[in-house]
Amino acid sequence: MITNVLFFKYNLWMKEYAFRMDRWLKGEKMGPVRIDAELHRRCNLNCTVCSRRTSNLEDSKNIELSTEKWVNIAKESGELGVKYWNIAGVSEPMCRPNTTLSVMEMVKAYDMFGELTTNGTLWKEQDIKKTVKIGWDNLCISIDAPDAKTHDKLRGVKGTFKKATSTVKSFNSWKNKFNSEDPSLTLNVVLNKLNYRSLPNMIKLANELGAQALFVEPMIPYTKIGEKLKLEKQEILELPNIIAQTKDLGKKYGVLPTITCIDEEKKFQSSLVSKTSNIKKVLEEDTKKFSNPILSIPCYYPWFYLIIKADGSVTHCGEYDNTKENIRKKSLTDIWFGKELEQLRKQFVNKKLPNYCERCRPNVIGDMRMIRKGITKYRNIPKLHEEIISLLKENMELKKQINIIKKENNLVEKCDSEIMCDHEKELTKLQNSLTFKISEKISNTKLAKLAKNLLKK
Ligand SMILES: C[S@@+](CC[C@H](N)C(=O)[O-])C[C@H]1O[C@@H](n2cnc3c(N)ncnc32)[C@H](O)[C@@H]1O
Ligand code: SF4
Repeated sequence: MITNVLFFKYNLWMKEYAFRMDRWLKGEKMGPVRIDAELHRRCNLNCTVCSRRTSNLEDSKNIELSTEKWVNIAKESGELGVKYWNIAGVSEPMCRPNTTLSVMEMVKAYDMFGELTTNGTLWKEQDIKKTVKIGWDNLCISIDAPDAKTHDKLRGVKGTFKKATSTVKSFNSWKNKFNSEDPSLTLNVVLNKLNYRSLPNMIKLANELGAQALFVEPMIPYTKIGEKLKLEKQEILELPNIIAQTKDLGKKYGVLPTITCIDEEKKFQSSLVSKTSNIKKVLEEDTKKFSNPILSIPCYYPWFYLIIKADGSVTHCGEYDNTKENIRKKSLTDIWFGKELEQLRKQFVNKKLPNYCERCRPNVIGDMRMIRKGITKYRNIPKLHEEIISLLKENMELKKQINIIKKENNLVEKCDSEIMCDHEKELTKLQNSLTFKISEKISNTKLAKLAKNLLKK
């Protein structure tokens, strides 16, 4: 369910990041929270606004890591305490279905939260079935318009709308068969001249297809066509009204819109739409009002985030292409705690953003603002403890109910049917819960021991 996705992300940003940031700056180094993985650089499409059109891409097959290597990386990350894997990159994950699905399986084997973005055109029934079966958490399907003509025009290939929409439908049908709420289905829209007026209709489409959310982000003008499709001043002025209608319809249909040109106070941010190629300035301006050394760090990614690219290079940011770190030569752990990232952290503490930050994505601004808010609110450890206790109580209640149901129905411990029984699912959810994660996070405190004991019983 989308609320689970949001709950996870909210807690990740507001608590986990804040907690880790606090620990780091007190000298306790911690592993990354999130990994974005570009499993390869293959793509079956050539979308009009995609940066692939302007990149000098080497043949993906010459640089790729093996499936086995990727699965081992996922395993190491699980052992390092990573919470969140996003299968991303400027490629189509399903061009290498075996690698993608094997990595997804390992991510879920370590109870990490899994997200994947896809153009939705290459999914086979058996892949969809497997994705639902392993409990993948969130799937973002890029659909740029509510009608085939506009979507196919933006994607550059006829028939892509039909394929992508039927993938969403098929996911829904497998979710129903498995009686599963996961994965949440999100439609991703890149905002431009051809589709900005269609946002309300995108909510209707999401509802028809059974998607739970709509994610809208401004287009970065990488290509000549992209430059032509950029919103003009007059068009930007129409946006607040369109966004209001989109949100109203979202409420009506139960589809949640996230529009990354709205800041965390939900005010419309025209600056983000018009400055999509000048994010660095906005990130720096944002920190000016803070004197606190943690709050005035313009970007927190070197403390939480790693991107592993198709060629094995590892960085804290997709725009940084000068890294010397490569997963072929070193372990994930050695890279994360290594010299290069340590130096970067020092530079960021000194408020120095490198030039490549000019190419940063607009949604990063919202992420940093949220993290900063979280740091202000949740660096207070007693407050965090209070939250844990209330979550513990909630989970205890849930556990009690499950035990009652189990007793009443004389249920065996394990279900061997292909579909997990409801009570088994509830137990899995309980163990994946934030309470458990938080208790692990503060593993040596009295409270953590109490939490662990309670959850093990
Ligand atoms: C690069 S794609 C890779 C995943 C997959 N191939 C897909 O198309 O969904 C990731 C996301 O970036 C979006 N995207 C493509 N070009 C963009 C641009 N110029 N500005 C912002 N987002 C863009 C895509 O629509 C997609 O939602
Ligand atoms: S947006 Fe996705 S599908 Fe389109 S060309 Fe880029 S990577 Fe391929």
